[in-house]
Amino acid sequence: MRAVIDLRSDTVTKPTPGMRRAIAQAEVGDEQKREDPTVTALQERVAALLGQEAAIFVPTATMANQIALKLHGRRGDVVVAEEHSHLLVFEYGGVAAHAGLMTLGLRGTAGRISSAQLRAAAAPSTKAADQRVTILSLESTHNNAGGRVWPLAELEEVIETARELGLATHLDGARVLNAATALGVAPAEIASRFDTVSLCLSKGLGCPLGALVAGSRELIDRAWREKHLFGGAMRQAGIVAAAGVYALDHHVDRLADDHARARQLAEALLVARVPVDLDQVETNFVQIDLAPLGLERSEALARLREAGVGLSATIHPTVIRAVTHLEITDADIEQAAESIPQALLVGVRV
Ligand SMILES: Cc1ncc(COP(=O)(O)O)c(C=O)c1O
Repeated sequence: MRAVIDLRSDTVTKPTPGMRRAIAQAEVGDEQKREDPTVTALQERVAALLGQEAAIFVPTATMANQIALKLHGRRGDVVVAEEHSHLLVFEYGGVAAHAGLMTLGLRGTAGRISSAQLRAAAAPSTKAADQRVTILSLESTHNNAGGRVWPLAELEEVIETARELGLATHLDGARVLNAATALGVAPAEIASRFDTVSLCLSKGLGCPLGALVAGSRELIDRAWREKHLFGGAMRQAGIVAAAGVYALDHHVDRLADDHARARQLAEALLVARVPVDLDQVETNFVQIDLAPLGLERSEALARLREAGVGLSATIHPTVIRAVTHLEITDADIEQAAESIPQALLVGVRV
């Protein structure tokens, strides 16, 4: 069978030989007793990286978001988020199930909502017993918007409004290191503005699993209790945390390479007349709009697979995406830039 250049997601990576060595050599202990030195080291590194006092290691970014949001609200409170955020689309109503929180989705542009939208959504209630918006959850980079980044000035404005309205703030920062790379700032420049931040190790960082929530010492102490309640308190988890420490040492600076390769692919596709909007390519995602080609998504993905390139569907019915990651080389990009137009433009007049 022909080898596939797998551009479906940055979650498909497998641990590199160096990461596997770090895993094999990890010092471990009982994490639930806070005796795993590698978990502790990872938590301290991530807290510092994100400009927060403390961090807690959990198995997945979904659990990280769920725990963080539970810290901020009481049952019946409302969390506001962009309508296509991971929290609202892919977390299965988890905040309602786990924390009794209501959700309110606001229509965003490039995954971003405005201060005015937030103000309108969180207007003071007329009755004392009304549900209240108490939490704002943002996402950067924004997955369903195509890896889009919040510019710092816009972010600051919305956060300031949230503060003024007395809301707690959470960042779904599963890919916050991509956002920081794209903006050319330290991750803390983004992450320290929020009460809590989640970070995923299993996307651009290339770990097999793992995520963290960072925040104040007080919030993270409370998060430990939630982690036990969620069944996420582990034992010799240093085996996995070692991959995280290794990734922080070896896989952060290289995120810029993923972004450059996505850009290179997008530019080549555009030249070949594949419908791509270059302005939307800010990080490691390239979105292709099939509508002008009159091609069904399932047909397009099947043809691409046949041509040896894996792309994936998005929540937008006519849009598919290619995502670069640490297993994608320059040669892969060159090959994909040839194969994608060949597969998609057969019989299409462009
Ligand atoms: C923005 C964002 N947040 C959270 C998650 C959840 O990550 P996981 O599936 O590892 O729980 C994802 C996964 O794709 C994501 O893109």
